[in-house]
Amino acid sequence: MDSILVTGNGPLNGQIPIAGAKNACLTLMPATLLSEEPLTLTNAPRLSDIKTMTALLQSLGAEVSSLQDGQVIAMSSHDLTSQTADYEIVRKMRASNLVLGPLLARFGEAVVSLPGGCAIGARPMDLHVEGLEALGAEIELEDGYLHAKAPGGLKGAVHEMRFASVGATENIVMAATLAKGTTVLKNAAREPEIVDLVECLRKMGAQISGEGTSTIEIQGVDRLHGATHQVVTDRIELGTYMLAPAICGGEVELLGGRVSLVESFAEKLDAAGVDVVQTKNGLKVARKNGRVRSVDVVTEPFPGFPTDLQAQMMALMCTAEGTSVLEERIFENRFMHAPELVRMGANIEVHGGTATVTGVESLKGAPVMATDLRASVSLILAGMAAEGETTVSRVYHLDRGYEHVVRKLEGVGAKIERIKGQ
Ligand code: EPZ
Repeated sequence: MDSILVTGNGPLNGQIPIAGAKNACLTLMPATLLSEEPLTLTNAPRLSDIKTMTALLQSLGAEVSSLQDGQVIAMSSHDLTSQTADYEIVRKMRASNLVLGPLLARFGEAVVSLPGGCAIGARPMDLHVEGLEALGAEIELEDGYLHAKAPGGLKGAVHEMRFASVGATENIVMAATLAKGTTVLKNAAREPEIVDLVECLRKMGAQISGEGTSTIEIQGVDRLHGATHQVVTDRIELGTYMLAPAICGGEVELLGGRVSLVESFAEKLDAAGVDVVQTKNGLKVARKNGRVRSVDVVTEPFPGFPTDLQAQMMALMCTAEGTSVLEERIFENRFMHAPELVRMGANIEVHGGTATVTGVESLKGAPVMATDLRASVSLILAGMAAEGETTVSRVYHLDRGYEHVVRKLEGVGAKIERIKGQ
């Protein structure tokens, strides 16, 4: 397995291009199943998760071609041969469950493996099932697979979700586009990736309003046609790289960045003493002066502080002045980066869903292990400001969500290289 060697070496300067959003692309790709006409995505990120979704769609019989070095994905699901999403693929990537709604809507049946747990939590699918059953689906769990049927087609309904689940919102909205009648989805998730999905579905002929608010209304239509759609900028990659100058000093411009994608995160950085300025090319980020100040963080559904930036923010708080309390309210086990940061000299106490970080002058490089996608990059950020060398192992986690991370950070002066595994 490869590892990444990073050496702390002072302020950063330059520009980092931000890619298309992984979590938008992973819901836009299954949308191809809703139509027999081609769907083409541009500005797609080059990530292993995208390759996994490609393999899943191809296993269903869809044609998926990766063009222009992976930045364009051309898909057609005119002739599907299967409606079963196999455990072998779904267990690797939970987002595979996003084929459930589209398959059910277009073909009236789907068999999708439950993803099983993952490092950050149990991640059940009860909210997906409740929403699709509200649309008239009959769903049984057998031998680890959800067997979903809608023999007479789905019917529009009013449904309020118990929690604003991102994936459940995406599955229900995609299914509702072809249901008979009107669906009103209440307590819907408001993430920018859902807004992006709706904009793409609308280009395909869907009748949807309210995206980005807690209530989304969908008028079912008989069929959807093909489209071409540009994937929205990745707000999590954006937020991650905004932390690089915050932790190391210097000034970095994140190309394609928009404050509207990271509002609550940018407010926290401002409170910590980090300047975030919108330019015509993106976001310019610089530490105002010296050490950043500690701030408290509570992760919430959008527009609250994103859980996917919690690990990275913890890395910044490790060398902040004062004490920071980070409360993780979305996932039950998302502090696995904490013991690795402690190995680097951080002062962190974890009790249940709360981590208390008391800032230290500086961290010390050490061998550490990536445990999940966002934890892996928080260790790299910490290593960039630590004294000495840090080796981050198990970087396959990183490849799931960050394209060309070494090239992007080297480009602004970081001392970082990828070591091929034996
Ligand atoms: C999406 O996951 C993202 N993944 C996650 O990003 C992100 O952390 C999460 O939303 C929250 O923002 C993709 O978009 C591919 P949820 P998702 O359904 O849809 C519980 C990353 O690092 N829940 O909003 O799975 C669940 O267990 C990844 O890029 C139920 O209880 O998130 C979790 O505790 C990690 N029942 C909480 O809700 C359900 O039926 C949030 O889950 C569904 C979810």
